[in-house]
Amino acid sequence: MAILNIRKIGDPVLRTKAKEVKEITEKTLELLDNMAETMYAAPGVGLAAPQVGILQRIVVIDVEDEHGLIELINPVITEYSREELIMEEGCLSIPGRSGKVKRPARVTVRALDRKGKEFELKAEGYLARAIQHEVDHLDGFLFIDKVLEEE
Ligand code: NI
Repeated sequence: MAILNIRKIGDPVLRTKAKEVKEITEKTLELLDNMAETMYAAPGVGLAAPQVGILQRIVVIDVEDEHGLIELINPVITEYSREELIMEEGCLSIPGRSGKVKRPARVTVRALDRKGKEFELKAEGYLARAIQHEVDHLDGFLFIDKVLEEE
């Protein structure tokens, strides 16, 4: 495994829409492993492939809850709660900055796991927040685009 270089704000790769993964190969699995290692080393609670310069729809998340490491390939958020919450966010690509962002409190996400099997996850709290933040990265959005108030 290897720790990858995390791209920082100003790098155009962070503003580019990532492509769907068509086929899960050995390289995909290696990327998942390296992304997790990079996230834990940072340390962070989530990382999207564009943040390491790879324009593929791949995310890793670990908010230190009962789910542990979550790997999402081609994630799609299929449901958002009407209830919204304001929570503090930061980003490994925007070091030293954080701010309050309003997002739906709960989401349902559908994705493929590393074996290519589709699964669905209902999330609330910090996990729901992390999923939305990371899926935004796949479309070239950053939390600062939605920030209400920067700290
Ligand atoms: Ni981020």
